[in-house]
Amino acid sequence: MIKRSKIAGTGSCVPVKVLTNKDLESMIDTSDEWITTRTGIRQRHIAEPDENNSDLAAEAARRALSMAGVDAADVDLIIVGTLTPDMPMPSVACLVQKALGAWNAGAFDVSATCSGFLYSLSIADKFVKENPAMKILAIGSEVLSRRTNWQDRTTCVLFADGAGAALVTGSDDQSGLISTCLHADGKVWDLLTIRGLGTAYPVDQDLLSKGWQYIEMKGRDVFKHAVKALESVANECMERAGWNNDDLDLLIAHQANIRILDFLRERLNLPSEKVFINIDKYGNTSAASIPIALDEANRGGRLKKGDNILLISFGGGFTWAGVTMRW
Ligand code: UT7
Repeated sequence: MIKRSKIAGTGSCVPVKVLTNKDLESMIDTSDEWITTRTGIRQRHIAEPDENNSDLAAEAARRALSMAGVDAADVDLIIVGTLTPDMPMPSVACLVQKALGAWNAGAFDVSATCSGFLYSLSIADKFVKENPAMKILAIGSEVLSRRTNWQDRTTCVLFADGAGAALVTGSDDQSGLISTCLHADGKVWDLLTIRGLGTAYPVDQDLLSKGWQYIEMKGRDVFKHAVKALESVANECMERAGWNNDDLDLLIAHQANIRILDFLRERLNLPSEKVFINIDKYGNTSAASIPIALDEANRGGRLKKGDNILLISFGGGFTWAGVTMRW
């Protein structure tokens, strides 16, 4: 029988610096009341100028390795989901390899926006199914504050920085990943973008004056797509696992908006204690949001042996994904 892959350790790391809604009130035309009621966010963590994506990712990875009792030298592969790498080249994964001294690991980044962690976890799952002895770090890590226009109140109250990691290896029992579902829709790519700093547009005065180095989002349209896609992938992934809604012990969804999480709770008919929420503390950390939540749930004693967990994500591209696993 093919062995399952399982998460043997989790870790996360956010910058020390906290930016509250009250702080934002003194920077732009907004209010704590608007941000809290429309998004559920109360504060977020922001990287210092000398703090980079790879620093956060490496620290999250160290914590996951420590929990799993695995040495960096024994890691076979490092996969980092991110849309805010330190640089276009090298990958964040290579910088994490260097920081950890994980000299025996292959390393690459995955570009799947807010679904970056679930895409990375799904890739790790396939490798481990082929060779259950493999030890793979799946990471989601972002420094979105440097791709945020701090004059644009429609986005700057939302996005933040952080990293989360999972050490994935072969399972000895029935615990582990059961189904993985990956989706994308490039037709509506322009609803959520960072157009500049790739190779399509020269970095010149025109680009900077358009603000194309920053995140641009048609929030209301993205919201409509997000709720539909998340509900659909949740049902698809649970069906593939052979679960009914009642079988689910915890839903960890991408933390983009409390209203999206409330919608999912209602549509999936779940009691509130089965929907994990930490958006109030961290804001939207894109690819990092699910692994940070997973680590908090794990360290907070919310994940019990044998629990059925569903992870679902949605982001620019569009991309969306789901993973079911038995803890
Ligand atoms: O992570 C990737 C996936 N991302 C998502 O899933 C995000 C999905 N979208 C959303 O979460 C929501 O659309 C937002 C939180 C981004 C916006 O909430 P909304 O309820 O859709 O607000 P809106 O864009 O329809 O704006 C409503 C009003 C507007 O004013 P008018 O035109 O009604 O006068 C905005 O200008 O709220 C205004 N507004 C603000 N007011 C105070 C927008 N941003 C702010 C702000 N403070 N920060």
